Amino acid sequence: MTAVLIAFASREGQTRKICVHAARQLEGAGCNTQLIDLTLGAPDTYVERCDAAIVAGSVHRGRMDQTLMSFLMRNGAVLGRVPSAFLSVSLSAASVDSDARSAVDEVTRQLLHDVGWQPDEVVHVAGAVEMEALNLLERCAVHAVMQHRGVELESQGRTELTNWDTVNAFVTSLLERVPGRPSPASELRDVAE
Ligand SMILES: Cc1cc2nc3c(=O)[nH]c(=O)nc-3n(C[C@H](O)[C@H](O)[C@H](O)COP(=O)(O)O)c2cc1C
Repeated sequence: MTAVLIAFASREGQTRKICVHAARQLEGAGCNTQLIDLTLGAPDTYVERCDAAIVAGSVHRGRMDQTLMSFLMRNGAVLGRVPSAFLSVSLSAASVDSDARSAVDEVTRQLLHDVGWQPDEVVHVAGAVEMEALNLLERCAVHAVMQHRGVELESQGRTELTNWDTVNAFVTSLLERVPGRPSPASELRDVAE
């Protein structure tokens, strides 16, 4: 069975949700998936045994999580041997302003450059934000930054900007690159949120 590693760092939970969705899609196509939450300090043992890898992280104040960087520094060389993709989750990905999207792409490319890992594909996915889960300073920061970047947020409650079609397309694209993949990408199941 094709083994797919999905390693992620998620602070408020949206990157985790996207990774779980991708895992269900891959399992529906006959893959065996291993989800690793990097923020929990999980061991790297599965990396050596995977046939394909997805690594995902979210952007906060213009940076990605340190645990993600450390994981890629330790494992970039091994991950370079299998089909791979990096998922960058941010609110800027939903911006109508191409400069805002370029800025978050630059953050992502810089991280990959710094850790010396070049995945086959880099995909930007819009995230989500739950205002009640943030402290006052964080709420103000998110509102100010997103207003500046042309991203509309609800003033209260949860705003989810994730485009699930983008996530599904990215999973299909990864499966197409896995040698001896378990089933044609067209057979991917749609997983309801
Ligand atoms: C305090 C804070 C700072 C953030 N900074 C940025 C940022 O600089 N650029 C951006 O595009 N999104 C930013 N975001 C949006 C997050 O990337 C988005 O909420 C994402 O879905 C978080 O993913 P996670 O839930 O997996 O951590 C920020 C969110 C918070 C709460």
